[in-house]
Amino acid sequence: APGKVSKICCIGAGYVGGPTCAVIALKCPHITVTIVDVNQSRIDAWNDKDFKLPIYEPGLEDVVRGCRGRNLFFSTDVDKGIQEADLIFVSVNTPTKKSGVGAGFAADLNYVELATRRIAAVANSSKIVVEKSTVPCRTAESMRTILESNSKPNCRFDILSNPEFLAEGTAIGDLFKPDRVLIGSLQTPEGKAACDALTEVYANWVSKDRILTVGLWSSELSKLAANAMLAQRISSVNALSAICEATGANIDEVAHAVGFDSRVGPKFLKASVGFGGSCFQKDILNLVYLSESLHLPEVAAYWRQVVEMNEYQKRRFSKTVVDTLFNTITGKHIAVLGFAFKADTGDTRESASITLIRDFLNERANIKIYDPQVPHEQIWFDLAEACPNLPLESIKKSVTICPSALDACNQADALVIATEWKEFKEIDWEAVYTNMNKPAFVFDGRLILDVEKLKKIGFKVTVIGRGN
Ligand code: NAD
Ligand code: UGA
Repeated sequence: APGKVSKICCIGAGYVGGPTCAVIALKCPHITVTIVDVNQSRIDAWNDKDFKLPIYEPGLEDVVRGCRGRNLFFSTDVDKGIQEADLIFVSVNTPTKKSGVGAGFAADLNYVELATRRIAAVANSSKIVVEKSTVPCRTAESMRTILESNSKPNCRFDILSNPEFLAEGTAIGDLFKPDRVLIGSLQTPEGKAACDALTEVYANWVSKDRILTVGLWSSELSKLAANAMLAQRISSVNALSAICEATGANIDEVAHAVGFDSRVGPKFLKASVGFGGSCFQKDILNLVYLSESLHLPEVAAYWRQVVEMNEYQKRRFSKTVVDTLFNTITGKHIAVLGFAFKADTGDTRESASITLIRDFLNERANIKIYDPQVPHEQIWFDLAEACPNLPLESIKKSVTICPSALDACNQADALVIATEWKEFKEIDWEAVYTNMNKPAFVFDGRLILDVEKLKKIGFKVTVIGRGN
């Protein structure tokens, strides 16, 4: 029954479950935290003696070093993890469905359901079950039905929704000092008691005025809404970037001026080659699907446009590259700097870089890629998936993965900044210029370069959202 939480289990040792529960363990030395996963190699990496962890996230290693083996454990023994815990986070993946009803839009809830059924099957005492994964509205209801229909006598389950708002690349800072923690529960005495128990866990390091408690459905919908509104800002600014290019306005200046209005605010208004990441597109499509299921086609169309604008931005950028290189890039060498979907992560899910490279391959260009964090196997995997019409051997004939930005730019006709890695600001541009074919084209898809300096060296520079 809900009371003080002393043992936590987290099902899913991914980008969310790993960092989130490692931080809980660090901040709550009196709680034992066990993170379980069915993926043996992932768990092995979390347990690696040299701390070669399965995900790259600044500050994560220090957190894991601080508590692994003390009150933080990683294991593939899912059943034992469930049985020993009073509180269980379900933090498994919820990708967009690839086939069946709602394919291309709806969230695939198979992993959430399997994890829930496992809890029902093996639990022999009462548990608080916390939905951490991002899910469509009312999923907690389905989880509750599954748990209650399968539970043993004397086992009661209280379901909470506690969506995660961390961003990759800043996960540890976000977890240490969250803007808010959101907990949704049923408004029954038992639901509220479970909510209090989880609140007490976070209250070990988060001030209580930042812990928001709401109803279950509001909590679930707030997560989709937050991601949809964040992505909408980017699509809005990217839509304006097209107008800037056509008129000679400068999107950085426009965004700065607009963001100065305290009602809009300055953050998250950076024009780009398009947003990526595992969640924005997935969660908006999920919201679109939800709206359609609720017979709200105008609402669905509204949110769908945020994703369509993002696709348009990526297409528009590839086309600018081709147009600028005299309408053909066939046989030309293009250096793509950055493969991750944003800086400070090795994650490539939905990275705009993948779409760009696919477009360049379709134009039969040669591509040299450099990214400081993404493993080479991951790049090959992503390109093979993005180009199902090309066998991997032929992709490998056109694509080279390089050990440095300088290597990638050697003999290149054009250089594309696809990820805003800090080191790309500090490249030796004189050396790059000397080694590139002329005219040497630079395309800044992230608005990070000193354009005047590059032009002085001799580069032909194109920047998103800047007219010539
Ligand atoms: P992930 O793919 O990195 O990790 C999920 C893990 O769950 C995998 O390691 C998988 O093996 C494991 N798993 C799946 N089914 C299992 C089962 N039945 N038993 C045990 N383990 C199982 O995913 P993620 O990026 O951590 O995302 C998890 C959820 O959090 C998603 O719903 C996502 O939308 C949400 N979210 C992600 C982020 C982010 O930045 N990545 C931020 C906020 C919310
Ligand atoms: C995003 C949200 O920021 C998190 O709050 C949320 O928890 C998470 O999704 C999730 O649910 O998964 P994340 O995708 O990790 O986090 O990273 P963001 O910093 O949001 O960046 C997403 C994409 O938008 C990146 O490709 C980034 O380069 C791009 N972006 C971001 C822009 O193009 N312009 C901006 O101004 C900001």
